[in-house]
Amino acid sequence: MVENVVQIIQNKKTLSRINRFITNEEINQLVEEYGTPLYLVDEGTLHEKVLELKNAYEKFQGRDVRIAYSIKANFNPSILKTFIKDNITFDLTSLGELFFVRELKINPDNIIYTSVTEELEEYKQVLSYGIKRVVVSSYFGLINLSQAANIVGLIPKVMVRINPEVGVKAEVRASYKNGKFGVPLNGGKVDSAYYIVKSIFRDPMLEFEGFHFHLGSQITNFVCYINALERLNSLLNKLKKEISNFSLRTLDIGGGTPVFYNEPVPTPQEMASVYLDKLNELVSYHGKFTLMIESGRFLVAESSLMISKIVNTKEYSDHKIVILDTGYHLLLDAALLKQEYPQEVVLNKSNNNHLYLSDRNKQYTGKNIHLAGRLCDTFDVFHTSKVSDLSYANIGNYILFYNVGAYSLVFNMPFHCQTKPPVLMKTCDGSIKLIRKGTSFNDLYIEEGGLIP
Ligand SMILES: Cc1ncc(COP(=O)(O)O)c(C=O)c1O
Repeated sequence: MVENVVQIIQNKKTLSRINRFITNEEINQLVEEYGTPLYLVDEGTLHEKVLELKNAYEKFQGRDVRIAYSIKANFNPSILKTFIKDNITFDLTSLGELFFVRELKINPDNIIYTSVTEELEEYKQVLSYGIKRVVVSSYFGLINLSQAANIVGLIPKVMVRINPEVGVKAEVRASYKNGKFGVPLNGGKVDSAYYIVKSIFRDPMLEFEGFHFHLGSQITNFVCYINALERLNSLLNKLKKEISNFSLRTLDIGGGTPVFYNEPVPTPQEMASVYLDKLNELVSYHGKFTLMIESGRFLVAESSLMISKIVNTKEYSDHKIVILDTGYHLLLDAALLKQEYPQEVVLNKSNNNHLYLSDRNKQYTGKNIHLAGRLCDTFDVFHTSKVSDLSYANIGNYILFYNVGAYSLVFNMPFHCQTKPPVLMKTCDGSIKLIRKGTSFNDLYIEEGGLIP
């Protein structure tokens, strides 16, 4: 496995760890070959993250711990192939994602399907591929699943997605009263976990497997997990009393493991330690079950960086504007969530003697540097992380955006006729391979119907 160089960037405000898996010389070489912008993924980091997440739950006293990768975070086939080697589970939410895993021949036993739409046609395709673990989020979804099971002739192991309706402190919240995702534990008419579980036990074409919840993404206060597990415990007690053969086989506690962007965040181990006792308490009350950790962001974010080039600057009395050849069309969360990716300048070592390139090594000592993208759009600015060091942000130099592996490639969009940049992977043997070709203006023209008479 490649040895990652963990670079400690010390600045006045904070000390943080950045996963720097490539040297400045290599960056200069890659840019020469592929241009900018450019994404780079480190295969070794992907494997390490799986281990780190799994190890965080080693004190779980239930049956076993399964790591599931939520492929919505990054569905690049080479990344999926890397995770196949780790024998993890894949969490899918759409027929498009099903197409990808089918192409990659992923074992259906290693798939969990969680849909928002829950249509009959969708469930027919899911079951036809042999996927048994299906998460339902509504009573209508359950009816569709049952019908699909009868048509396909496969009995699914049904998980019920609950909305614990607990407060969550996170960048993205998925649990709130009357929310879109999952069903409340009780109440409602048919759309409650209580009613859905009872219906599953009445249906010979359905088998009850367990519960699922997902509280949010980039969670930094983990009390919400304790609150959700306590609420689930009361539901389990109620169901045990009313259903003689009730047993919990799998509990999926969703994603949310945070990643370092601006502030240091707790490690998965520190996160798990907050609610592991509560999980083990559930085991002691309700018997051994499989614990599933369904992570997207944590598994892929730190594996990737984006290289962009500074193409223009403007200096005013109290600040400097730095314009890049990238934009929010390649890092949408920068605009949606004001994501503060850590940034660093790498000097351009080429011999190009353009007038401005002679200033590449000049340090800017002023305080205010504003990073702006290439799009003609007010929101196309990049917030800087506390650890970003932009003092050499001069025309021709490169800016690295770290920890961009999650929710970035999957959001790439052609706003302003922009093309998709290439994606490279540094493999475990240290070689670099192209894992997604960049697109051209001609590709975009054809895709947009330019050749239709
Ligand atoms: C159902 C479900 N599970 C898991 C995840 C992954 O969350 P994260 O990327 O925060 O780990 C998501 C993200 O939206 C989700 O909707």
